Amino acid sequence: MTDVSAIRRLADAARAARAGAHAPYSKFQVGAAVLLDNGVIVPGANVENASYGLTCCAERVAMFAARTQYSRASMVALAVSCGADDFVHAGNHTRMPCGACRQVMVEFMAPDAPIWIDGVGTHKLSDLLPTPFKLTRMLP
Ligand code: THU
Repeated sequence: MTDVSAIRRLADAARAARAGAHAPYSKFQVGAAVLLDNGVIVPGANVENASYGLTCCAERVAMFAARTQYSRASMVALAVSCGADDFVHAGNHTRMPCGACRQVMVEFMAPDAPIWIDGVGTHKLSDLLPTPFKLTRMLP
């Protein structure tokens, strides 16, 4: 399911999804795409707001869309692409998914899920967030 051609298709979808970004404040357009176990690819892009803190990253837009539109499918891989090259300070740090999005990935994807990052390569989710928060209820 996550062979090389599937990841390439997913990467293309993430790059294309950047066009859907609403980023008038940062001018930093990010695209993401989630691959489901049924072969469907769900895109997303960052959506900013005049009240800056309301901004939602591309990865979370894609995962939330996948979860709500295909609630019976599993997410098996994610790709993210940004315009880091447009920034003078561009470096790999600028291309990496933020910590909040990594935590949301852990909610929906397996630890060995491949996360493709444009200009960087593919990382296992567990390498991106080795110690995620998990909610385990204490029994009375
Ligand atoms: N952004 C993402 O879409 N994904 C990330 O992982 C990091 C940051 C967006 C949020 C904001 O619209 C812009 O990039 C600048 O922070």
